[in-house]
Amino acid sequence: MKKGKVSGKKELIEIIKKRGTIPFSEFMDITLYYPELGYYTSDKSKIGGKGDFFTASELDPVFGQLLAKQFVEIYEKLNTKKFKIVEIGAGKGYLAYDILSTLKNEYPKVFENITYVIIEKSPYHIKIQKELLKDFENIDWKQDIIDFKDNEIEGIVFSNELFDAFPVELIKKKNGKIYQIFVKIDEENNLYEIEKEATEEILRYLKELNINIPEGMTTEINLGAKDYIIKIGKKLKRGYVITIDYGYPSAELYKPYRMKGSLLCYYQHKYSENYWENIGLQDITSHVNFSALSYYGKLEGLETVGFTDQAHFLTNLGLMEIFEKLQEIGDYKAYERMNRLKTLVLPKGMGEKFKILVQAKNVKDTNIKGLDIIPPQTDRYKL
Ligand SMILES: C[S@@+](CC[C@H](N)C(=O)[O-])C[C@H]1O[C@@H](n2cnc3c(N)ncnc32)[C@H](O)[C@@H]1O
Repeated sequence: MKKGKVSGKKELIEIIKKRGTIPFSEFMDITLYYPELGYYTSDKSKIGGKGDFFTASELDPVFGQLLAKQFVEIYEKLNTKKFKIVEIGAGKGYLAYDILSTLKNEYPKVFENITYVIIEKSPYHIKIQKELLKDFENIDWKQDIIDFKDNEIEGIVFSNELFDAFPVELIKKKNGKIYQIFVKIDEENNLYEIEKEATEEILRYLKELNINIPEGMTTEINLGAKDYIIKIGKKLKRGYVITIDYGYPSAELYKPYRMKGSLLCYYQHKYSENYWENIGLQDITSHVNFSALSYYGKLEGLETVGFTDQAHFLTNLGLMEIFEKLQEIGDYKAYERMNRLKTLVLPKGMGEKFKILVQAKNVKDTNIKGLDIIPPQTDRYKL
């Protein structure tokens, strides 16, 4: 594939010309995941300074180190020789690297007894991950969660910023009726949207989750996330599902002050609402509906254990103790690191924006350290 501004726009236009219209989710799927040309499948830098956005694992190893600590508690609780840590959507692999390094250095017995499996859709990211993680032997890659047998996994299935990268349907309420957005092109190959009556599947989703969006609202429905959490539930025999991402419960997500929904595009660290530009070159993401993950997970035996935010989760796992140690050291480097750690927990920033949903299946005493103290149960936290 040629490097540079090859973006998949030509392929997108060909597909729409052939089909007439495509649902918004398919437009998003093509722009993000079209083989070799989509945003996530191309060899363009995405995460980090040279990319379009930062993730927590890119900022500082502490995120992976504290997660590793949480995983050790779960390992001891489950007490099985078949313990797997399954990470879905590992990006550049930093989180896997920090978790595996922490286990190897601080919990060698646990390290020897686990298998780490990455499920990754992007061949570009798999290549980077394999290079970074080449010194670890107990690691394996799969393309999809369906590559596991039903009830095969004992351990943890987790993700950081996975579901926000799923293609979503756009819906709109007009005169009390729900419409679905489709994408079309005009004679000059400009993209534009039209509305059609929403499918049965979308209407069922809204009914099952008891969602009644306000008149005039345009918002997203992540049917892919629904299907995926059901699949995870089927593959997990015993253990935990830990989902880290930005988002809200239904009660908050569809409040009238979000009349335009939460869809955003990221390009070179700037965000916009214009998904028609930079096709295949910019990220398109939406907030995760955590009520949906909780509800559909339950259908496959995943019981919700708790729902918290990153600040509470990391503090419960010992972030403040790390701050204190850095303060004691007190040199320039220590203060620089303290600033990075603050970014992870700042209210109004990552600390509150990022949520953690913990679900468990076939576990008796489900309490874990990361949920010791949870935020006040306002609409932002009630699933
Ligand atoms: C926003 S990045 C998050 C990266 C990483 N977790 C981190 O913390 O830096 C999303 C990742 O999920 C991957 N991805 C998206 N959909 C996926 C799917 N259905 N299965 C597996 N990986 C997927 C993308 O290729 C990308 O690596």
